[in-house]
Amino acid sequence: MIRGTKINLRPLTQQDLEFFRKVANDPEYNGEFNDFGLRNSVDLEKGFSVEGLFGPHQGMLVIVDQEDQIVGDMSYHQVAYGPNPASQVYEIGLSIRPDRRGRGYGVEAQALLADYFFRTYNIMRIQASTDIENIPEQKALLKAGFSREGVMRKAQWRNGAFHDLVMYSKLRGE
Ligand SMILES: CC(C)(COP(=O)(O)OP(=O)(O)OC[C@H]1O[C@@H](n2cnc3c(N)ncnc32)[C@H](O)[C@@H]1OP(=O)(O)O)[C@@H](O)C(=O)NCCC(=O)NCCS
Repeated sequence: MIRGTKINLRPLTQQDLEFFRKVANDPEYNGEFNDFGLRNSVDLEKGFSVEGLFGPHQGMLVIVDQEDQIVGDMSYHQVAYGPNPASQVYEIGLSIRPDRRGRGYGVEAQALLADYFFRTYNIMRIQASTDIENIPEQKALLKAGFSREGVMRKAQWRNGAFHDLVMYSKLRGE
């Protein structure tokens, strides 16, 4: 368990799978900026059966409140900027349940996961990108100690159009 004040982060359990199966294709839960078409639930089951969806290269963490109720999820994967281990960074993303948004959970979850990665792995950089129109996520990243780096023009195809993304990062010690 990664302990915070409002929320905690923990690996997925078998019991959590039902919740995530239900929200996999829920437009409100995923939000307009994660509309990449329908998802199958097989990938979730397969990933969970291999390494509990919590591996060193990619994975998922459940965001829970202090009563262990699910309030969202975080995902992460490694991105390589060179062939050597020191050029690996982690990219993170998240969703908070619609009825739990705007309570500071998104800020705390991203700050907690960044802190955990810096303590656990000898890495320098954690990054997150989001749609240029996703104001809540951009505010949350800044409040979590990330810095805005720049715009990746038309980097993402989503829901019938190419979209500009903004890249944010947090370096060790920031
Ligand atoms: C983006 C998201 C993770 C933010 O999480 P959250 O818990 O709601 O955010 P927080 O409560 O920590 O607030 C972060 C900031 O965003 C602001 N904010 C929250 N909802 C907002 C909204 N609908 N419009 C404008 N600002 C908003 C908050 O006020 C806060 O800024 P402030 O402290 O300056 O007021 C959440 O809205 C979400 O899950 N959205 C759908 C999925 C998504 O877009 N994920 C992002 C990665 S693509």
